[in-house]
Amino acid sequence: MQDSNHNRCVYDYLIIGSGISGLFAALKAAKFGSVAVITKKQIADCNTMYAQGGIACVSDKKDTFGSHINDTIIAGAGLCKEDVVRSIIEDGPLRIRELIETGLHFTKRKEVDQSGHGTDAEFDLGKEGGHTHRRVLHCGDFTGREIIEILYEACRKNPAVKFYENFHAIDLIVSKKAGLNGPNRCLGAYVLDRGGNKVDTFLSKFTILATGGAGKVYLYTSNPDVACGEGIAMAYRAFAEISNMEFFQFHPTCLYHPSAKSFLISEAVRGEGGILKVRKGDKYVEFMEGYHRSGGLAPRDIVARAIDQELKQSGHSCAYLDIRHRDASFIIKRFPNIYKTCRHYGVDMTEDLIPVVPAAHYCCGGIKTDINGKTSVQNLYAAGEVGCTGLHGANRLASNSLLESLVVAHNAIKDSETVLNDVDAAHLTDKTATSIPDWSSGDAVDADELIVIYHNWDEIRRFMWDYVGIFRTTKRLERAKSRIRNIRKEIEHFYWDFKLSADLVELRNMASIAEMIIDSALAREHSVGLHYNADCKAPDPSVTLNDTVLRHPGFG
Ligand code: SIN
Repeated sequence: MQDSNHNRCVYDYLIIGSGISGLFAALKAAKFGSVAVITKKQIADCNTMYAQGGIACVSDKKDTFGSHINDTIIAGAGLCKEDVVRSIIEDGPLRIRELIETGLHFTKRKEVDQSGHGTDAEFDLGKEGGHTHRRVLHCGDFTGREIIEILYEACRKNPAVKFYENFHAIDLIVSKKAGLNGPNRCLGAYVLDRGGNKVDTFLSKFTILATGGAGKVYLYTSNPDVACGEGIAMAYRAFAEISNMEFFQFHPTCLYHPSAKSFLISEAVRGEGGILKVRKGDKYVEFMEGYHRSGGLAPRDIVARAIDQELKQSGHSCAYLDIRHRDASFIIKRFPNIYKTCRHYGVDMTEDLIPVVPAAHYCCGGIKTDINGKTSVQNLYAAGEVGCTGLHGANRLASNSLLESLVVAHNAIKDSETVLNDVDAAHLTDKTATSIPDWSSGDAVDADELIVIYHNWDEIRRFMWDYVGIFRTTKRLERAKSRIRNIRKEIEHFYWDFKLSADLVELRNMASIAEMIIDSALAREHSVGLHYNADCKAPDPSVTLNDTVLRHPGFG
């Protein structure tokens, strides 16, 4: 199946990314063939690890699919695809059951019987912004970490799944670029083996992009360092359609501390009564009631914008979250991770206000797919944050993302099964495989000026934050456009003249993502959902809103 030093290998499934979508897809794909999971750092270096809130899913008798669908559509501000929303929400309980069968233990409520004995009862359901019911299944406040652990363990036991850590996908291999006839189809990826410092050729019948988000494109983000939007950038270069990149979600409450790297303070803290406050003179006052009838539990775009506005008006550096009125024992038990981390930074949330600021959190746009994660390139699927199914519309409802990941990863593998045994030209035949060349780095030499990479990296993240953040204007967007154009030119020159390094690959992809966000934001004519441009009006309710779609100039 593969040669001894991994230079060139062939798998049925190539899965790029090791978060919930990648691992869930790997487990499912292992039933049908050989699977390679590649991840650019370690398995645990993924966005899912940082998911605190949980998975939104109807599991309570008082809750209904209709209500979850409705909340999702309201948050999505007119751009959700209703059939997709319905399908993901209705399939949720089945996928959740599979997670539980794989070994996940969601937190349950303790009920005390008449003799005073405590027993585990129903799931302890969390509440987050925009939800009209408690419906968020969670494992304390480290749901993502638990999910990765159980899925990784299950995959590791499966001989069909092989993991490649420190393998960094740099470009998809597509028939159109390889000069093959027929519709454009994906045949695998070129992958930088960071340890061996060489580029390997991974060929596959199906490629599933599960690379997560792109928060690193902004100066402040709740995302880990790996979140550079690489799946989206690679798919764009492979001629897949990209949608709705202007809708970048900012989480309202990340810990404000110079060393905390925007540590997330879950919306579930507000769900359990935490109140957002700002400083006025020597007092700390509640302010969200003035912005929305749901106060601090309004949809995220509204809360993040309200905090941004309050801070701009007052000149203060942060807002505050106050949950001191809840029992200390409840806080510590319900939010062990947040409590411990805040303590580490000198904030005891049982006694102190938590200083918070918004930070870039979730990319609602991405590679345009259907409900099965199918992209516009044959045999290329995208699942999770990297994709754009139409579930989130212009603003994602809290904790809907892990649900989408599970459903779409499952659907993608199911869809692939229908073509797996069909001996069709679209498949990776031996003849096709041998016609794919290995990566060529031409005359590239070692880079002499790494400062160019670091300078451009910082510059992009800063102007994206200042000009393309929570509050936008057309002038700021145009300024950002002219900056990114110059930087992109410089990076392209650097990319082809010097030997590839992981930093250079990330920088090039991040610049491409920044440009996509700017172009989509300039193309959007209304202020809607997460895209707020002070020069654009809100849409008239009678107007049908369309997705923004980006295509590489070589598309078609
Ligand atoms: C949170 O716990 O506030 C984050 C959940 C999410 O982004 O869906």
